[in-house]
Amino acid sequence: MNYQGQISSMRSQIDEIDSRLLELFTRRMEFVRGVAQLKRDSGLALTDPVREREVIEQAAALAGPELTGEATSFMQGLMGISRSYQAKLLQNLEGSDNPMKQILVIHGPNLNLLGDREPEHYGSATLDQINQTLSELGTELGATVTCHQSNCEGKIVSWIQDSSAYAGIILNAGAYTHYSLAIRDAIAAVTTPVIEVHLSNIHTREEFRHHSVLAAVCRGSIYGLGIQSYILALRALLVV
Ligand code: DQA
Repeated sequence: MNYQGQISSMRSQIDEIDSRLLELFTRRMEFVRGVAQLKRDSGLALTDPVREREVIEQAAALAGPELTGEATSFMQGLMGISRSYQAKLLQNLEGSDNPMKQILVIHGPNLNLLGDREPEHYGSATLDQINQTLSELGTELGATVTCHQSNCEGKIVSWIQDSSAYAGIILNAGAYTHYSLAIRDAIAAVTTPVIEVHLSNIHTREEFRHHSVLAAVCRGSIYGLGIQSYILALRALLVV
């Protein structure tokens, strides 16, 4: 078989696995629904961080050293989806006329490197850990948190342009903060409130970081508080 033949044969196996995964996903969500109902009936907390940690550790061990990081992200994503789904179900079950708020978190360039990147400025938490914390807090506060990261300006512009379904955006635009007029114009063009956040205190660092071209079109700015900058922004967006 030539390369093309081998690729298409492997792709059809991937497609088959994907459809089985989706079948299993649907079944998994049925059980997730059942757990949500039982938790509500017995007054138990929606989140169970101990169980989540155990599931992640088990997934990492099963996947083996080469895929540990990927398996961890996969399971974190899956559990985030389950948590949001449970929160949404509970909201519906309780017949609330106050639907779940959707919050969008956008991380800009180089923030995928958090954990290893200049910890003296940005701390030791990885991007996955920040996203996980926001997602759990969102569930607690009755919001669904969706997180994106990109190193590309255009992607960030598009996410902002397409944000009409969201109650607010938490934006750490990284270095784009200091010069991206395209991102500034995107924020100005939409009605979604945007809170600009930074892990580090941009005013105590190099002079080129002191100015944010985004600040004037944002609802507010929070910086210098590490992961707390994001946490406070989330809390703020749910009340503004
Ligand atoms: C940052 C500060 C920016 O100046 C820098 O370019 C970043 C991270 C922060 O979170 O502190 O990438 O936005």
